[in-house]
Amino acid sequence: MTEVAVAASRLAEAGVESPRADAELMAAYRHGVRRSQLNLVADSEFDPRYWDDVARREAREPLQHITGTAIFRYLELEVGPGVFVPRPETEVMAGWAIDRLTEMDVAEPVVADLGTGSGAIALAIAQEVPRASVHAVEGDPLAIEWAERNIARCAAAAAHTKGRVTLRAGDFRSALRDLDGAVDLVISNPPYIPVGAAVPPEVGEFEPPAALYSGADGLDAIRVVEQTARRLLRPGGLLAVEHGAPQGSGVYWVFAEENGWAQTRNHADLAGLDRFVTAVWP
Ligand SMILES: C[S@@+](CC[C@H](N)C(=O)[O-])C[C@H]1O[C@@H](n2cnc3c(N)ncnc32)[C@H](O)[C@@H]1O
Repeated sequence: MTEVAVAASRLAEAGVESPRADAELMAAYRHGVRRSQLNLVADSEFDPRYWDDVARREAREPLQHITGTAIFRYLELEVGPGVFVPRPETEVMAGWAIDRLTEMDVAEPVVADLGTGSGAIALAIAQEVPRASVHAVEGDPLAIEWAERNIARCAAAAAHTKGRVTLRAGDFRSALRDLDGAVDLVISNPPYIPVGAAVPPEVGEFEPPAALYSGADGLDAIRVVEQTARRLLRPGGLLAVEHGAPQGSGVYWVFAEENGWAQTRNHADLAGLDRFVTAVWP
């Protein structure tokens, strides 16, 4: 499709980071084919609504808001205004948790996902560790609606996830009191951008602020996750928390041995950037 090349150059001009890939993915979405099948779309079948999609992306609306879905590990999730678009870097942390839960000598491990957003982490765990039971906590009413939709969507697509994710509306500061001392793994991708930090338009203009910003150093929500995790975890329980690339050292010290944690480790994402911390509650 020659239109894709034109769209890619318009997106490049608008400052989009991956113009060719986005132009192709939007064309594939609009014509109901895989990206690799775009050459099968005849010129006579070209859908002019593609140019509306291109204009939205030129205005820096996230690609996933335009297509309505985001891929997270083996899941396709519904996303749009009011919910954080799940990111590839979070897939690595979810994978770490899935590996630990898979090898865990516990019949039905209990997991808490603090700040579930679209439900990405909770649903990936439920899909890949069918014996796990996952409690997904979210405080933002709009995000809760998206999570509900995705939990239902996944239950329809992968029956074994049905009933394995329980959505719990509320602040993760005080959440899940009924599970105090009984959780095997706490995982969280909380807001961690320092207030006032520069972000791309896709983030600053389209993602919910409650999913992004967290105090002057960006660590306020992570400190709350630390307090909640020490309350929820059983002895020997595991913690994984995502953070921004420059925050690895700060987050390490939030979960340091001096604070009662053990085996605290920094982990990199697929780009080699410091991305999440794991620890054990002894
Ligand atoms: C960065 S997003 C992550 C969403 C999802 N876990 C993911 O990885 O795609 C953080 C989420 O935490 C929620 N959140 C922030 N502070 C919270 C709090 N104190 N209690 C409950 N949810 C909170 C936000 O509304 C947002 O949905």
